[in-house]
Amino acid sequence: MEITFGSTKVQLVEGDLTRETTDAVVNAANKTLLGGGGVDGAIHRAGGPQILAECRKLGGCETGEAKLTTGGKLAARYVIHTVGPVYRDGQHGEPALLASCHQRSLDVALQHGLESVSFPAISTGVYGYPLDQAAEVALGAVHEFVIEHRQPKLVRFVLFSPAAFQAYSAALAQVAQRL
Ligand code: APR
Repeated sequence: MEITFGSTKVQLVEGDLTRETTDAVVNAANKTLLGGGGVDGAIHRAGGPQILAECRKLGGCETGEAKLTTGGKLAARYVIHTVGPVYRDGQHGEPALLASCHQRSLDVALQHGLESVSFPAISTGVYGYPLDQAAEVALGAVHEFVIEHRQPKLVRFVLFSPAAFQAYSAALAQVAQRL
């Protein structure tokens, strides 16, 4: 599924983020940036020890913020590490923090002249954010950003399950209706 907002293609695919060939992939990390399970573990396994060596020098990352390393052995040249909110009940600032993850990751991409960025479904695994709510926040935040900045050229969401793909597809269709 693909929709163009302004000058940016927003694509949804089902697949494995570590195989992406976009300029950067976004990692759903934790505040230490020192690795974890889920997509974080997969990125460090596929990208090799260089990514962790660079992460050690970054001094961690706040929730809703984003920091860049190279991609090590990944096909993607860079990894943008962001820290999603742990979901409690949606009443503790989770939507604003999740939106910030997407917008700060895209800020970092633009600062480094990157034209294509792939995101996982941040916070929807270990951090427990309900897929449909996360999808709405993620697509809304990306839509807002690319309409304002008219960059990058491509934002792709790489969803790991049919359920995630469906939730993000429904949210993308909703955002498109705002056009
Ligand atoms: N490609 C794409 N998506 C993936 C992959 C992969 N290879 N592996 C897992 N996912 C999906 C999960 O199915 C989930 O929908 O990524 C989404 C995010 O799940 P998590 O990786 O658990 O991330 P999150 O919920 O943000 O929790 C972050 O988990 O691994 C730790 O260090 C990380 O402590 C942090 C926490």
